[in-house]
This record gives sequence, C-alpha cells and structure tokens, in this order.
Amino acid sequence: MEEDGVKSWVMAVTAQTPTNIAVIKYWGKRDESLILPINDSISITLDPAHLCTTTSVAVSPSFTHDRMWLNGKEISLSGGRFQNCLRELRSRANDVEDVEKGVKIAKKDWDNMHVHIVSYNNFPTAAGLASSAAGLACLVFSLAKLMNVKEDHSTLSAIARQGSGSACRSLYGGFVKWIMGKEENGSDSIAVQLADEKHWDDLVIIIAVVSSRQKETSSTSGMRDTVETSALVEHRAKVVVPKRIIQMEEAIKNRDFPAFAALTCADSNQFHAVALDTCPPIFYMNDTSHRQVLFLIISRVEKWNRFEGTPQVAYTFDAGPNAVLISRDRKTAALLLQRLLFYFPPQSETDLNSYVIGDKTILQDAGIQKVDDIETLAPPPETNANIPVHRYKGDVSYFICTGPGRGPVVLTDENQSLIDPKTGLPK
Ligand code: ADE
Repeated sequence: MEEDGVKSWVMAVTAQTPTNIAVIKYWGKRDESLILPINDSISITLDPAHLCTTTSVAVSPSFTHDRMWLNGKEISLSGGRFQNCLRELRSRANDVEDVEKGVKIAKKDWDNMHVHIVSYNNFPTAAGLASSAAGLACLVFSLAKLMNVKEDHSTLSAIARQGSGSACRSLYGGFVKWIMGKEENGSDSIAVQLADEKHWDDLVIIIAVVSSRQKETSSTSGMRDTVETSALVEHRAKVVVPKRIIQMEEAIKNRDFPAFAALTCADSNQFHAVALDTCPPIFYMNDTSHRQVLFLIISRVEKWNRFEGTPQVAYTFDAGPNAVLISRDRKTAALLLQRLLFYFPPQSETDLNSYVIGDKTILQDAGIQKVDDIETLAPPPETNANIPVHRYKGDVSYFICTGPGRGPVVLTDENQSLIDPKTGLPK
C-alpha cells in the first residue's frame, strides 16, 4: 500500500475469547457508567471450541477513524462503552515494533492512530448467550495485545467490565469470580480466577437454545428498574449473595456437586424472582421456555434429582430465554440429553447434526445416532406410568453440549485473521 509516496502498512492481531455463564448472578449496578455491580458474581467459562468470539484488530497509518464490523456488518463505535474501553487501552499502550515489516509505533503515537476491529460470534448475538461478554472481552484482549499493553488480566478485566459487566469474567478460563469492589473509581471491581478449567472438567453443560430472537428487555434498563423498584434486590445483594459466594467458592474448591447444584438453582430462581419483583415486572422466559421451565426444568430435573437421592443436574437461566443445564459427569450428561431429546424432539426434517451441536460424544454416549432414535426414546424412569407425558416438538431450536473451557488466546495463524492484511478491511 502506498499513499502520497508514504509507505503504508497494516499490523493486526487476532484473538479468541470464551463466553461465560453465571452460577451466582450479576444483577444490578451501583454505578452505571463505570459498570460497578451491587454484588459479587461467579461464573463458569464455557469451552471456546463451542461458543466463542473471534476478533481481529488492526492498526495502520492509512486508517482515518476507528471502525468496527460485527458479524459482517459495520457498527458504530460511538457508544460510551466502546469509547471507555478504547480510551483506557490507548492510555496504557506502549512502543510496538514489527521488525519484519520495518514498522515502529511509539507509545506517544497511539493517541493519533486508528484501529479497525472485525468480530464474529459463533452463536446468536443478543439471544441471552452472553455474546457481549465474549465480544467485549475479546475486543479488550486483542487490542491490548496489538497495543502492547503490559497490565495483567485483572486490569484488563476492569477495562472489559466498562464495556459489558460480565465481560470481565471472560478474561479467565475455568471458574471465575467478579469481585464487586468498594472503590468509587472501580479500580478494585475486577475478575479473579477461582480454579482453572481442568480443576472440575467432569462437568458437562448442555444449553437448550430456545430462540435466537433479540431479547425484549435490555439488561441495562432491566437492572436499572430493578435497583430502583425492587425491595427484594437489596436483601439479595446485601444478605443472600455474600453467603452464597462463600458457599459456592467452597463447593467449587471441593468439587461438591450437591452443594454446587443447590446454590446454582437457588440463585437462578432468585434472580428471576428479583426480575419479577421489578416494576414493571421483567419476564425473561417467553411462552415456550416458560413451559420448559415449569415442565422440564423445575419439575423434571427436581423430580429426577429427588428420584436419585442426590442432585444429578443443576439448572440456570440468564437474562434470556435459554436454559443452561449442568450435569455432574459425562454419564449423567448422556442421561440428561436423552431426557431433553425425549421432551423436546426436533421438527421433522431436522438434521441431528444441527440439532445437537458442540461435544458430539455426549450424543454417542446417549446412544443416539439418527433422528429416528429420538422418536423411539422411552419416557424417563422417574415419570409416572399412569400420567401421559407430553413431548414438545420443535420448542427448542437446538442444543449445545459443552463444558468448562479456557480463557482468551491469541490466534497466530494468519489464515484465522478476519482482516485483509493489505487493505485493513474485513476479509
Ligand atoms: N456484542 C455482541 N457481540 C459482540 C462482539 N463480538 N464484539 C463486541 N460487542 C459485541
């Protein structure tokens, strides 16, 4: 590239970042612009092999302004959240040198350099699968690499937090706590890793994607309404969550599934109770998933857990209609998937490979090789033979089988870059 006789160049970095699912929920801010929460939260980072954001970022003297493309469409970067992240990163940028390209960017020059950001989520954006968590974590992580930001992951987590609260937890793999912090400037509101993904890799996570529709209430306005109107949320933040955080850390440390499951289900239920206690009330489950919750999750899972005498599966629902089920081990996951497929068979003509995605070995362990095998599944043993069981065909769009996963990584293979190295535009 040559412009006005000045040799130009493009320098790029690509990274991949996981999403996460909270088992002790974040709901409610004490500072809206800095995104400071009213309670600590704990999450599991999900395997990026199945759910992740990939982001390429580039810098070039030929770029005239900061630009971003998300899932193939150019989007505006003018929002305060993006601007906060960009400002925080630029202020920490350092000298960068690419000897091969013969390029040097001095620390002081970053204020005048522009970036291009190209990002893809491999799962539905805004369907309640925490795409902004993976997205903002990836944006911050990849720009930090490009700009040679030397701060550790906890500082990066505090920057990502200013883009999207739960993004701070996606800076680490495994089991992660977002400490609410006390400082007014938010400097101590950071994520820390409680244990890495190998610590408890027996866990299998199955997500029932109910709909990929955009969620109806934005989390930001929902949280604001809750903090302003719910009497329950203060009790939750001050009394309930602090105790649960201690118990959950202990359950994770000891891989104590019964305690983990009891806390996870109770916290999800309280989060939805708080949403309902908001004026106007927030309903995060559309009709389909309401049926799912009432019929399958609350009654079936609870019944199954009681039938076995000890919890087999935990359930948790975020601010969207999808169900997340966490089973204690692979054997239980196969039994769970059989039950899920029994209650929620696919529409006719659906291909099994697109109905159950992610870790296919769970499907094999469940003994399901073809769609017809779902038709002939027997009702679970804990069902009452005298009561007819209903099967909700087509109510679930698809299932994702996954587990705890690693934190962000840089992808070094040029072919994985989403940016054309000559033009600096999306490939
Ligand atoms: N919001 C949802 N997905 C995102 C992404 N990949 N990057 C930035 N913001 C997002």
